[in-house]
Parts: sequence; C-alpha cells; structure tokens
Amino acid sequence: MSNQIQNVLKQALITFTSKPEVFATNLQLLSAIVDKLTADDVKLDIRKLGNKDNPSEPGAAPVTYIDIYEDATVTMGIFVLKQNKKLPLHNHPEMHGLLKVLSGKVRIISYSINTSKTLEVDSQTRITDNVQRHNALKLAPRRLVTAELTSDDIVDSTCKSCLLEPNEKNIHEIHSVDGPAAFLDILAPPYMTEIPNSGHSRYCSYYSILSNVAPNVFRLQEIRNPPWYWTDTAPYAGPDPTVDLESESN
Ligand SMILES: [Fe+2]
Repeated sequence: MSNQIQNVLKQALITFTSKPEVFATNLQLLSAIVDKLTADDVKLDIRKLGNKDNPSEPGAAPVTYIDIYEDATVTMGIFVLKQNKKLPLHNHPEMHGLLKVLSGKVRIISYSINTSKTLEVDSQTRITDNVQRHNALKLAPRRLVTAELTSDDIVDSTCKSCLLEPNEKNIHEIHSVDGPAAFLDILAPPYMTEIPNSGHSRYCSYYSILSNVAPNVFRLQEIRNPPWYWTDTAPYAGPDPTVDLESESN
C-alpha cells in the first residue's frame, strides 16, 4: 500500500509532465494530496532539527534542507527554519511550486511579476542602466524586477498548501514564527534546468527591496547571496517515495 509521500511524488510527476489541457486539473489533484501531508508521513523530527541553533553551536546553519527526491521534472524536499530565521527574498524562474507547512508556523510574503500593476509601472518608468548605476551603490549593476506584493500570510500545518506559479507569487521570503518551522517544498521544473527558448538556466536569485514605486508595487534589486543565509543538510528519514513508482513500472 502506498503512503502519502509516494502519492505526492506520483501525482507531482503526472502533473508536471501532463499536457497543457489537463495541467490545471492535475495541479488541483496534486494540491489536494499535498494538503493532507503531515510531519509524521515524512518522519520529520522538528525537535531534533529545529533546535540545533544554540550558543554552543554558533556556526549552525539557520536553515536545514532535507532532500527527498529530484529528477529533471521535479524537486521535492523539506526546509527546516530555526527560530527567528528566514529564507531571503528569492525567485523561482518560470517555475511552479507547492509549499506545505509540516511543523510550526511560517510567514510567507509573496510578490507577483507581470501583473497589470507592475506592467503599468514599467511602462511609465523605464528601468534603464542609469537607474541601476545610481541605485546599486557602486556595486556591479544587477537585475531589477518590478513586483507587486500580493500576499503576506501566516501559515501552519493546519493550512492548505500554498501555490506559486510563473507569474503569481513567484518571489517570496519565508520566516519562521514563534519557534522553528518546517515545510515541504515541491518545485517544477527544478532549479538549474534550462528555460526554454531563453538560453538561460533557472538559477535562484536573491533580492532586496530597492524602492516602493506605487501602492504595493516595489522595485526589487538582485543581490548576492546574503551572508546571514546558508543551509546545511540532514538525511531524509521517511519512506522511500519512489517505491510505488518502481513497483508500477515493473
Ligand atoms: Fe521558494
């Protein structure tokens, strides 16, 4: 009998390889399965992982990543944020993502790109090299993005999964609230895969807010990896999500 994480992976692979006409239906099915996932399903011990950051361990990473599965279609893993830590503002280029809190509570602040508001701002204020030079504080010019703040939510394990899409909530930062927290993260396609017809790979960019250019619309500037953010890894202790796939293909 398959368990919940196997069901999640199976539906994720179906969804992210499906034809456009059935993609939305498959994504809804995936969300419904992910909504039911619990920390127990993946044998997550937040007490062990989330409380590692203490004065006797000054070099401990603020965030731990547990890799569950990755192929060319989908990445699935768990982020564990220690108390008062956060994932910096970052993007997911041309990607879909589902995030399900498994333990604790997180605040997710999400921005959308290519909305009617951001397109209007961009048409009124051209982003030029000159703007970059002035605002980059003599750092090498980096990419500017206009993004609309579209949600700022506190989410815990009783909440449904959160969805991000190529233009919707594609840039976010995630804070732990009132203690350590952990969430499942499903991304498709994975980072470092090629963006079709662009000549670019999907690499993760970090941002800081440069200016507020209209109500709820911000200009974000790409920055280097913030020095306060890094991750370590922990082994996945849950059931093998691929067992069901293998038995079905035999
Ligand atoms: Fe993310």
